[in-house]
Amino acid sequence: MRIFTGVKPSGHLQIGNYFGAIKPALELQNQGEGIYFIADYHALTTVHNAADFRSYIEEVQLGWLACGLDPKRSIFFRQSAVPEVNELAWLLSIITPMGLLERCHAYKDALANGFAPSHGLFAYPVLMAADILLYQADIVPVGKDQKQHVEVTRDLAIKFNEKFGNVFHIPQPRISEEAATIIGIDGRKMSKSYDNTLQLFGDDKVFKKRVMGIKTDSTPIEAPKPVEGSTLVELFKLVATPEELAAYKVDMQKGGKGYGDYKKLLLEKLQNYFAPIRQRYSELKAHPDDVRDIMADGAKRARAIADQTLQAARHAVGLA
Ligand code: ADP
Ligand code: TRP
Repeated sequence: MRIFTGVKPSGHLQIGNYFGAIKPALELQNQGEGIYFIADYHALTTVHNAADFRSYIEEVQLGWLACGLDPKRSIFFRQSAVPEVNELAWLLSIITPMGLLERCHAYKDALANGFAPSHGLFAYPVLMAADILLYQADIVPVGKDQKQHVEVTRDLAIKFNEKFGNVFHIPQPRISEEAATIIGIDGRKMSKSYDNTLQLFGDDKVFKKRVMGIKTDSTPIEAPKPVEGSTLVELFKLVATPEELAAYKVDMQKGGKGYGDYKKLLLEKLQNYFAPIRQRYSELKAHPDDVRDIMADGAKRARAIADQTLQAARHAVGLA
């Protein structure tokens, strides 16, 4: 079983990405052949500052390795290291109905969020279909927001196969419906668009300041603190054992301590939880040649698969 997923380097990694995407995707490494890639062409639809872009790519590269992506077991590569995907995107675009793309929520959302309507944004799902089909994926783990794109991919694969012969494997999306939405420091969904994130890597002082700045209510020190719907409890839950969580809640319900104390406890837990990952991140960052070799090896292995599919597709349409 081939598991395939991509991550867009469009900002700094935050702990919502870790719990919502990175951790569940990497757990699948034990269940089949994992192919993970950095969707840099896709990110270019919205990131137009080269220096920022390079730093996001580096962070995602080091970050996924630091979080446990095993480059011996899985394939890890950058989308742009296998530019053949663009040719396949073209071969798919000749059979892609305009209406199918016009119905895509992600495109409409991007416009609603102020991005100028570009051909790249519009054609985004075709490039994504090319990614998935080029590597003949079985299972594509994605968030709910990307489900429609995997459905577009299936439609295009079926249509191409019917028209030109059987070239593509039809993939299945795997939507982690039960994956919790991680709450940000203001109580809304953690997202870089809301500036309410706790970054996975980055400056420790800023991290501390943001944890200490988590929005709480105005319950007085001596009064019991509500635990239902508490951002502190929600975040604590992610990094503590069930016993630690129970003790944290009982203590809050007793009253007598201010929120500052509970924030400090949360900070300590978060820092302990992420310490080994952050340590690996620093080690990898100090060895850029090793990381380059890992990425080059991944690209080579990815390309071997991509070449086969692309040749079959070129042959099917009559280019070869
Ligand atoms: P952001 O909302 O910060 O822009 P992205 O859209 O880059 O985050 O997130 C990449 C993936 O990380 C998403 O598809 C989603 O699966 C996961 N993710 C992001 N934020 C959260 C969150 N708050 N809770 C759970 N998962 C999240
Ligand atoms: N569009 C995906 C996202 O925004 C990233 C992505 C690009 C992807 N190509 C993919 C995900 C192929 C899975 C498979 O998160």
